[in-house]
Amino acid sequence: MRHFIDLSEWSSDELRHLIDLAVQLKQEWKSGGNPPILAGKALAMVFQKPSLRTRVSFEMCMQHLGGHALMIGPDEIGLGKRESIADVARVLSRYVQGIMARVFAHDHVVQLAVHASVPVINGLSDDQHPCQAMADLLTIYEHYGRTEGLRVVYVGDGNNVAASLGQVAAHFGMSFATATPPGFELSEAMLSPIRALASQHGGAVETFHDPLEAVRGADVIYTDTWVSMGQEVDAARKIEALRPYQVNAQLLANVGKPAIVMHCLPAHRGLELTDDVADGPQSVIFDQAENRLHAQKAILVHLMA
Ligand code: CP
Ligand code: NVA
Repeated sequence: MRHFIDLSEWSSDELRHLIDLAVQLKQEWKSGGNPPILAGKALAMVFQKPSLRTRVSFEMCMQHLGGHALMIGPDEIGLGKRESIADVARVLSRYVQGIMARVFAHDHVVQLAVHASVPVINGLSDDQHPCQAMADLLTIYEHYGRTEGLRVVYVGDGNNVAASLGQVAAHFGMSFATATPPGFELSEAMLSPIRALASQHGGAVETFHDPLEAVRGADVIYTDTWVSMGQEVDAARKIEALRPYQVNAQLLANVGKPAIVMHCLPAHRGLELTDDVADGPQSVIFDQAENRLHAQKAILVHLMA
């Protein structure tokens, strides 16, 4: 049984195939619609955290492909509380043909996959956001017409989105850099396989503390919230430390080329990025949001058709 939980479990060729499929499904959708490839199939969407894009895009993916999506909110099944994660996985597997889950502990989505007999998709965990990274890759590819040799710089908190972005960059021959305050870096456990994969594909991985130095020569500047879901108790400390890492006009002026600006959203305008940048000509943030639809259709078709 194949799952989509962590991009390190997929080969670069497989991910390339998924992106090709996403491009094809997007073209098809734009020129009249997709055939009902998932007719008669249902996806359970388990959410332990709030969501706009993940929830709506997955539901629309299933609808466009002739299938059905079922929303299960945080108060409904009590994942691991009312019932064990293993039993939730076993029961859902008798009703639906796929499970997408947004969880806190990464191990919870792993445990769902261990005990499910249908494919499980990670719709964000505390450690990773692989579906976002695939939509981001599609967005970068559409903008530049290639990925090899591009330089992607992630500015801000070394979080789940940064981790999956680094993985996808390495798979697709891009160089990846982070600019974080000391103590906010991606873990070495996360970075070292990314480094190994990047070097196989001709990319490099660098870590900086100085954002102005990091962004020089970037093709892509990426940022995300300074306070991820579940970290609210630590918000004041994180915001204070991350203030010098705002993506604003001054930072963009330091790049030396017209990099695109990316953010997975939701954005906290005035914190991690300014309004003028979010709404400016270099921003592709809403293309990224749209591409969730197309990238996830490819994942669903690959796993469930
Ligand atoms: N980018 C993203 O995953 O958005 P949501 O949290 O709204 O799903
Ligand atoms: N890093 C953010 C991403 C939200 C889509 C979080 O985990 O809350």
